[in-house]
Amino acid sequence: MKGLVDERVLERHGEMFAARLRKRFRHLAPRFKRRGIDAFRVYDWDIPEVRATLDWYAGHLVIAEYVREQTADVPWLEHMADAAASALLPDVQDAERGARLHLKRRTTGKRGHRYGRLSRRGCELEVREGDHRFWVDLESFVDTGLFLDHRETRALVGQQVLELAERLGRPPRFLNLYAYTGSFSVYAARAGAETTTVDLSKGYLAWARRNFELNQLDTSKHRFLEEDTARFLSGVREQRQRWDYVVVDPPSFSSVGNLSAAALDIQRDHPRLLEAALGVLAPGGRIVFSTNHQRFEPDLRALSRCAEVREITTQVQAEDFSRRAAHRCFVLSI
Ligand SMILES: C[S@@+](CC[C@H](N)C(=O)[O-])C[C@H]1O[C@@H](n2cnc3c(N)ncnc32)[C@H](O)[C@@H]1O
Repeated sequence: MKGLVDERVLERHGEMFAARLRKRFRHLAPRFKRRGIDAFRVYDWDIPEVRATLDWYAGHLVIAEYVREQTADVPWLEHMADAAASALLPDVQDAERGARLHLKRRTTGKRGHRYGRLSRRGCELEVREGDHRFWVDLESFVDTGLFLDHRETRALVGQQVLELAERLGRPPRFLNLYAYTGSFSVYAARAGAETTTVDLSKGYLAWARRNFELNQLDTSKHRFLEEDTARFLSGVREQRQRWDYVVVDPPSFSSVGNLSAAALDIQRDHPRLLEAALGVLAPGGRIVFSTNHQRFEPDLRALSRCAEVREITTQVQAEDFSRRAAHRCFVLSI
């Protein structure tokens, strides 16, 4: 199937892409500006032939191609990037444009290496989400440090932690598993929680601390633990430590280069993982569980101590990810 994309096709894709970007940006930018949000998705593979996503990060464009054979021999992504720059950065000089464009290629392996380092260049900047601020790095990895599709989940968690703090009359104990750069923890801490942030990666935990500092949160009052989730849960359960609110947002698959951590397959392992998380939940507590596994089939019936399981996928669906639900999300409460 190689060679189907020639100059003429490139031109046509570029024009369609640019037209769509202008239209979407005109619609979305004012809406997000009103909410103080300067990082959002402008294009989510809306046109079947233009297999890409484009995210706006405070005037920078992150363009990711879903790589396919037909474009292997042509500079398809570079051409789309030029089209995007003329549509969304019309006033930015050519010399400056290069620094504002960040190109990524996603290969669709079943267990694709989404977390590999891409470039040594690095491009760090601060983005806003209402009253919250986050560091993103648009160059070093496939992911930027902030999952935009979780924006409404973060808002919901922040709101619920705030309500919980009022109801309990003390700081809620908040646990963030597979925490990555700690964005859920930032929302919870800003809402008054004492947070515990757990991730296998030292680098991401350091990033989480910097996100706390950026939000004027005192890191000495919060815990950041470099641990495998399963090990952590069994340890704290024995010590009878409990939390009022737990976020579980694991990768679909994980065989992170740490021999102490067993490989994770979320479809297979989610009942056991959630059972373990329920084991550290305080009475009246709540778990928010999310997965971006594309064909996830929940099997939550067997969760013995669970009083209520509710799917909230549509409630936390971000409007800029309207093409399809980016993840499925559930609340479990006891
Ligand atoms: C999908 S990201 C989580 C996204 C995060 N909840 C957010 O919204 O920003 C997956 C994270 O899980 C971590 N991770 C993978 N396997 C792990 C394990 N066995 N124990 C703890 N963390 C793990 C990775 O280091 C990565 O930071």
